[in-house]
Amino acid sequence: MSEPDLFSPVKLGNLTLNNRMVMAPMTRNRAGEGNVPQAINVEYYRQRATAGLIITEAAQVSPEGVGYPGTPGIHSEEQVAGWKKVTDAVHKEGGRIFIQLWFCGRISHPDLLPGNKLPVAPSAIKPEGEVMTFEGMKPYVEPHALEVEEILAIVEQYRHAAAMAKQAGFDGVEIHAANGYLLDQFLRDGSNQREDEYGGSVQNRMRFLNQVIDAVYESWNRQNVGVRLSPENRFNSMSDSDPQQHFSYFISQLNAHAPVYIHLLEGDMISGERNVNYPALRDAFDGLYIANNGYDKERAEKVLAEGNADLVAFGVPFLANPDLVYRYQHDLPLNEPDMSTFYGGDEKGYTDYPFAER
Ligand code: PHB
Repeated sequence: MSEPDLFSPVKLGNLTLNNRMVMAPMTRNRAGEGNVPQAINVEYYRQRATAGLIITEAAQVSPEGVGYPGTPGIHSEEQVAGWKKVTDAVHKEGGRIFIQLWFCGRISHPDLLPGNKLPVAPSAIKPEGEVMTFEGMKPYVEPHALEVEEILAIVEQYRHAAAMAKQAGFDGVEIHAANGYLLDQFLRDGSNQREDEYGGSVQNRMRFLNQVIDAVYESWNRQNVGVRLSPENRFNSMSDSDPQQHFSYFISQLNAHAPVYIHLLEGDMISGERNVNYPALRDAFDGLYIANNGYDKERAEKVLAEGNADLVAFGVPFLANPDLVYRYQHDLPLNEPDMSTFYGGDEKGYTDYPFAER
């Protein structure tokens, strides 16, 4: 068998993707009024439809799930209508698109939440640092530790959002259980210090994720559902006492649910530092593995050739190069990303990155 090639088609469950290059989920804070995807968002995703698979920016499953200004939701009829234009545009270009389901939990602020309520978390532990509100940066607050019935209510919000995602015409959904947001806050023991059935043992810490997966499976076939994890990402004040051991358990248990892929943010998001053995985690999972975090063409080809990933997700390179697949294929130079326009704003730094001349 020949080596898997970045540019050759691959089966992902019941879908055939045009290549193994995934556009990683990236928060861009450009949704319109009511957290509804608007015309510039349609254009942004349409431009990037040559990716084998687009995973959208994280979309909150309910108004309570929000953590930043201007992020899209997937819980209202208006949002579904907005996303439908995105999925139609991507499909028209021959692309495939999953939506990432998100609940921020303690990475939020009363200013952003309905009724100015406290953000929620497994335990009342305040994250370090500051949050972007409509009035600028403010320190994080100590979150409310969720009661069991409140956890179950959030599972219902995922159930609803997954059904809305189906209506919006997505090819699948990615459950965001990474990067310090609510599901990850339950998985890792630095943020989960509960003493009930949702904390303590790895079995208990995974209970919420298992319930969310079951809820999502009510509207989706497992072949159209992926899960994102980040065992050792410190972003958002996260830590775990033994990421290798704990995530090896979580990942082996995911086999019971058999989602089509796991998508790993490998190492630390900011520094890139890695201590976990990712091939070992990958071996614990029976489905497909998407590698992410700082990959370029060379590293992507290497990880595929070594058999340590099935697909590779690219973030910033796709942000700055709508035609990243073509550029990598033809070894063309890349556009420079402009960090000042990553979060919020208009077309500038969003839909105005040029395509390479053909
Ligand atoms: C961010 O807004 O910086 C962000 C959002 C979602 C992630 C990671 C980072 O998963």
